[in-house]
Amino acid sequence: MDCKKQHTSGKRQKNNKGQNAPDEKLRTFIEDMALKDRMARIKHKIMVLSGKGGVGKSTVAVNIAIAMGLEGKQVGILDADFHGPSIPTLLHLHGKFLKAGKNGIDPIDFVEGVKVMSIGFFMAQEDRAVIWRGPMKIGVIKQLLAEVNWGDLDFLVIDFPPGTGDEPLSVAQLIPDSDGAVIVTTPQDLSLVDVRKSIDFCRQLKIPVLGVIENMSGLVCPHCGGVIDVFKRGGGEKMAAEMGVPFLGSIPVEPLIVEASDNGEPFVYHYGKTAAASAFSDAIKPILLLKNRKVSH
Ligand SMILES: Nc1ncnc2c1ncn2[C@@H]1O[C@H](COP(=O)(O)OP(=O)(O)OP(=O)(O)O)[C@@H](O)[C@H]1O
Ligand SMILES: [Mg+2]
Ligand SMILES: [Zn+2]
Repeated sequence: MDCKKQHTSGKRQKNNKGQNAPDEKLRTFIEDMALKDRMARIKHKIMVLSGKGGVGKSTVAVNIAIAMGLEGKQVGILDADFHGPSIPTLLHLHGKFLKAGKNGIDPIDFVEGVKVMSIGFFMAQEDRAVIWRGPMKIGVIKQLLAEVNWGDLDFLVIDFPPGTGDEPLSVAQLIPDSDGAVIVTTPQDLSLVDVRKSIDFCRQLKIPVLGVIENMSGLVCPHCGGVIDVFKRGGGEKMAAEMGVPFLGSIPVEPLIVEASDNGEPFVYHYGKTAAASAFSDAIKPILLLKNRKVSH
């Protein structure tokens, strides 16, 4: 055994000029190439953001992805939330075994051919309490993007934790040609203030804003199916107009959404005839029309 090699491999090497050693550079180069190859096979990458927590980002991410699948598109969902990866919970995918094929880690096949990958698949319950430093998150996200075997996709929908932290920042850097962000808000004023921050974040990073979705907008009456205004409705649309970004639509508060997620059922798939499911299908219409985006590097 070559001890010198054994002791020095796998660590970040610096030569005496403080530059990265050749093996480190080579590793980064290979990873960058793998990332580029994988991303080149995905026509559209969509980020789902919100300024505030609990507004229904993950619910929106899953349901727009499945609505796209129902339109015959090849879709992947990537859950990039380190602190509360909720996609495995929403879709009851906990405990699924990941397979490493010869082309990388295979995502999990869900309904309508939608493929799912979550940071949560790699984390033990107790890891959730770990404080992840920014560079660690970037490394993991890069590996996920480079090593997950998505194959050819029309859309990759990426779910994030709330806010404008390391996760969306890393993805914005790693996928400079992403098609843009869908920003989720609720009708309450506080959430709208936060949404402005998300829009500013996108503008600074030159991420196109595909549009705003106002979630939990009015309540579907379980008796007659009519929509009752619980909170103020329409703030999302007004704010989108003020900020000069598209408005993709309002999703009402629908008790069946909670029931569906409790049962690990994708809502739009099982309750396609509801007003909320039609609202999801309407919201994706402009996204389905996206043209390929070319960015000069
Ligand atoms: N339109 C809706 N009607 C009823 N319940 C909803 C609706 N949208 C989301 N919910 C429920 O609200 C809760 C929060 O949703 P979700 O986890 O998608 O939010 P989030 O923004 O991703 O949260 P976090 O910031 O923690 O990531 C869930 O229980 C979900 O089922
Ligand atoms: Mg979430
Ligand atoms: Zn009623």
